[in-house]
Amino acid sequence: MSGSFQGPPPEGEREHWGGSAGFVLAAVGSAVGLGNMWRFSYVAAENGGAAFVVLYLVMTFGVGLPVLLAELVLGRGAQRGPIGAVLHYLGPAWRGLGVLFVVTGLLIFSYYSVIAGWTLRYAATGVVSGFGGDAGARFATVAEGAGAVAWHLAFLGLSLVVVLGGIRRGIERCAVAVMPLLFLIVAGLAIYAATLDGAAAGYRYYLAMDIGKIWSAEVFRAAAGQAFFSLSLGMGAMMTYASYLERTHPVSRESLTIAVSDFGVAFVAGLLVFPLIFALGLQSEVGESTVGALFITLPHAFHEMGGTGRAVGVLFFVALLVGALTSAISIFEVLIVSVSEGLRWSRRKSCWMAGALVGALGVLSALDTDWLGLLDLLAGNVLLIAGGLGLSIAVGFSSRPAREALGNSVWTSLWVTTLRWVAPPVLLLALMHALAGFWEALRSYMGA
Ligand code: TRP
Repeated sequence: MSGSFQGPPPEGEREHWGGSAGFVLAAVGSAVGLGNMWRFSYVAAENGGAAFVVLYLVMTFGVGLPVLLAELVLGRGAQRGPIGAVLHYLGPAWRGLGVLFVVTGLLIFSYYSVIAGWTLRYAATGVVSGFGGDAGARFATVAEGAGAVAWHLAFLGLSLVVVLGGIRRGIERCAVAVMPLLFLIVAGLAIYAATLDGAAAGYRYYLAMDIGKIWSAEVFRAAAGQAFFSLSLGMGAMMTYASYLERTHPVSRESLTIAVSDFGVAFVAGLLVFPLIFALGLQSEVGESTVGALFITLPHAFHEMGGTGRAVGVLFFVALLVGALTSAISIFEVLIVSVSEGLRWSRRKSCWMAGALVGALGVLSALDTDWLGLLDLLAGNVLLIAGGLGLSIAVGFSSRPAREALGNSVWTSLWVTTLRWVAPPVLLLALMHALAGFWEALRSYMGA
C-alpha cells in the first residue's frame, strides 16, 4: 500500500487552505478542545494545582513547541498525510511511526467523540430544562449506556458534516466561524467568575505554588502528557493540517501562535473553573472524581447559582462543544487522509469509512467508562508520548531536508538540539510513567 503514499502529489490535486488565518485558526481549533477545559482542570486538580500549571507551561514551550514545529515542517514539505509524510522524509524504516499515528488517532477519536457527546447532551439539557436534580445521578445516566451511544453518534454525525465539506469549505469555514465564539465565551466567563464571592480561594489553589510538587515525577509526567494531548501532538494531526499549506508558507511564527493560544485558553479556563468550584465550596467533589469532575461538579455549581447559573452553564457547555468539534475534525482528517491516500479512495468514501470505524469503536467507550478511562491512558498518554518521542528522534537525527526547510539560523540549531537532546529524555521519562499508570489501570480493569 505504499504506492499512493509516496512522491509529491500532482500539481493542483491537493486542496489548500484559503488563507494563513484560516490555517492558524483551524490548528488552534485542533489544539483547543476538551483537553483545555475538561482534562486540564481535572489533571491540574489531581496534581495539586499551581506546581502542575508551571510544569505544564514549561512542557508546552520546551518540548511541545519543538515537536509541533517538526510536525508542521514534515506535513508542509511532504504534502501528504502522516504515513506519506513519514515515508517521504524519514524513509520506509519509519513507516511504523506513521501507522502508530493513525492507530492512535482512531483510538483517541473513539472515546473523544463519546465525551463530546456528553457535552452536546449537557448543552441541550441546559437549554431545555436547566441543571437541576442530582448531578451525580445525571452524570451516571449521561456517561454510560444507550443514551451515551446515541449522543456519541450524534456528535460524530456533526463532525462528519464538517469534514465532508473538505478543507476550505468544511474545516476552515467551521474554524473561522466558531473559534472566535469560543474565545469570547471563555474570556467572558472568566471575568464573571472573578466577581464571585470566594473566587480568591479558587485562585489561591490554582496559582499558589507548592514548590515541593515541582519535583514530583508524577506531576512531571502528567504535565508532559497534558501538553502533548492539548497541542494535538504525537499522532500527526498537526502534520496533516500542515500538509494543506502551500510549500512556501512559513510555519515558525505560526507554531508559536498555536502554542501560545493553546496554553492561554487552558490557563484562562482554569481561571474560570477553579473560582466557580471554590466559590460554591465544591472542591472536595473534584478531588474525588476524575473524568466526571467537570460533568458533575460544574452542573452542580450552575444549579446552585440559579437563573444566572443556567445561562453560564449553557455558555460553558457550548464553548466546550465548539472546542470538541474543532478538535475532533482534526483527528478525523488524519484518518480520512490515510484511508484516501492508502486505498486511493475518494474523499467522500474515506469520510464515511473513517466515520463508520470511529462510530463502531466508540460504542465500547459509550457503554463502559472504565474502558474509556483505560483508552485515554493508553492512547491519550502512552501512544501519544511514544509517537512524539519517535518523531523527535527521527527528525532531530535523520532529517536533513526538514532542517533545510527552516533555513540556517540560530533558531534552527536550537530547534534541532532540543529535538535531539532535550525532548527525548523528557519524553522517555514521561513514557515510562505513562506505561506504569496504564499498566496499573489495566490490572484493576481486568480484575474488576
Ligand atoms: N488537542 C485536543 C484537545 O485539547 C484534542 C486533540 C485533537 C488531540 N487532535 C488531537 C489530541 C490529536 C491528541 C492528538 O482537546
